[in-house]
Amino acid sequence: MLRPGFLTTTAVTLSRGRASQAALYGFPRASLLASSTQNPRLLSSAANSLTKLQAQLDDPTLIASAGFIDNEFITASTSGKHFAVYDPANGTEIARFPDMGIEETEKAIQAAKQAFPSWSKTTAKERSTILRNWYNLILENEQDLAKIITWENGKPLADALGEVRYGASFFEWFSEEAKRLYGEVIPSPNRQQRMVAIRQPLGVVGIITPWNFPNAMITRKLGAALAVGCTVVAKPASETPLSAVALYELGKRAGVPKGVIGLVTTHHNTKAIGKLLCESQDISGISFTGSTNVGKLLLKQSADTVKKVSLELGGNAAFIVFEDADLDKAVDAAVLAKFRSSGQTCICVNRFYVHSSIKDVFGERLREKVEKFRVGSGMDANTTHGPLINKASVEKVRLHVHDALDHGAKLLIGGKESENAHGYFYPPTVLSDMTNNMRIATEETFGPVAGIFSFDTEEEVLELANNTRFGLAGYFFSKDVSRCWRVAENLQVGMVGVNTGAISSEVAPFGGVKESGIGREGARQGLDEYTQYKYINMAI
Ligand code: SIN
Repeated sequence: MLRPGFLTTTAVTLSRGRASQAALYGFPRASLLASSTQNPRLLSSAANSLTKLQAQLDDPTLIASAGFIDNEFITASTSGKHFAVYDPANGTEIARFPDMGIEETEKAIQAAKQAFPSWSKTTAKERSTILRNWYNLILENEQDLAKIITWENGKPLADALGEVRYGASFFEWFSEEAKRLYGEVIPSPNRQQRMVAIRQPLGVVGIITPWNFPNAMITRKLGAALAVGCTVVAKPASETPLSAVALYELGKRAGVPKGVIGLVTTHHNTKAIGKLLCESQDISGISFTGSTNVGKLLLKQSADTVKKVSLELGGNAAFIVFEDADLDKAVDAAVLAKFRSSGQTCICVNRFYVHSSIKDVFGERLREKVEKFRVGSGMDANTTHGPLINKASVEKVRLHVHDALDHGAKLLIGGKESENAHGYFYPPTVLSDMTNNMRIATEETFGPVAGIFSFDTEEEVLELANNTRFGLAGYFFSKDVSRCWRVAENLQVGMVGVNTGAISSEVAPFGGVKESGIGREGARQGLDEYTQYKYINMAI
């Protein structure tokens, strides 16, 4: 049975004068967690953890342990099962979510299917207004949304706030682009016919989002989908569902109509729900951000229904420092492009290629910067770098570092884990004297490890940088304008940073080539993933 409502009575008491919002936004106050078939004591301790989080928000009604179907927050799964969400800074459980399955996903799909005819017929201006309302609400609640990201993802609060603003920028951008979904008038080759191509929404789309940007990867997809008139069923990462719920709560307040956005939360049924979204005849498009292996599986599963699929997958970014580079700028950019989110972004640098004449000085300058990092809980104001998302991530980073050291890499800083560390921490690490037989040369580390390789010629480094099945982002530093054009054009990637380590923007097309994905997100091109052309030929 699906049941609405998620607020506990305690949470309402702690709501600092906002208790009335619960009634305003239609949330019954009785917690339904206790109705689960799972151990009631465990569930009530999970409810207590959530209540503690709610007490730290200006607006406690922003979070809940719930999915969202047909404009109702659903706190229990039909199976009665839940899954836990952990704070990666200390490994403690902070919430327990309904582990939804096929039944709930089907309900969300049917709700979105029912909502599609009327949502797709709203005017672009009406959709734009709702997205703009949503954008404003995100900014009004940015401090709370940032805290939620830090609790479940671990990134420092300042970075989380940056993510909230980045996430909001997609709603702002797509609220504007909604009004510019132009078709084409095609000059007719004869006098008896007139030809136009109009753009129409795909229908219901399934979106599957990652934990590394729990807020911005949802808004990047939702913004584009809603702008063109699609309805959506989303599945957030099981590590970070709280940010998704907070966004949906604001979406409801912004005026998104019933059924237009669904949210199914799961951990154990992730594969089954992904398969259902891909195979359902009622879903017309899939957008996924995550690993290349999962992306390939979703692509295969979407083949039978010939869906439009948009994939933003793994990367193995090269960062090239030529001998004529501005070294100060290159080192600053290296810090940003490697250690943002503790190395857990798809566009993080995986391989540094530094000209042999400056390799040692670059390594030393990078080491000095990394020495100043403060690793710790993202809630601590002094922290510059937070934990990794889970134990498996720490293990992968450890494996890559040990493999490099075993094959002769030189450790400049980091590499040694603290014995008493709580949570999922790995010290920011810089390695030099890297060689191509090391794992980091070909595998994405997704952690705070900078491995420095050296090279001698432009031709050689282009071959090294392109010698990978991935092709998401690439970066290089040089003052030679001709070289800048040559290298930018010859790097086999979807995005290039020339003399910069910061390339993400809502106005620019984000996406990769080769096994890093298909399709583009953000930008004008982001609308293409959710629309199709219809050609109309009218005889006169
Ligand atoms: C990602 O890691 O997938 C997204 C990074 C970004 O948008 O900057």
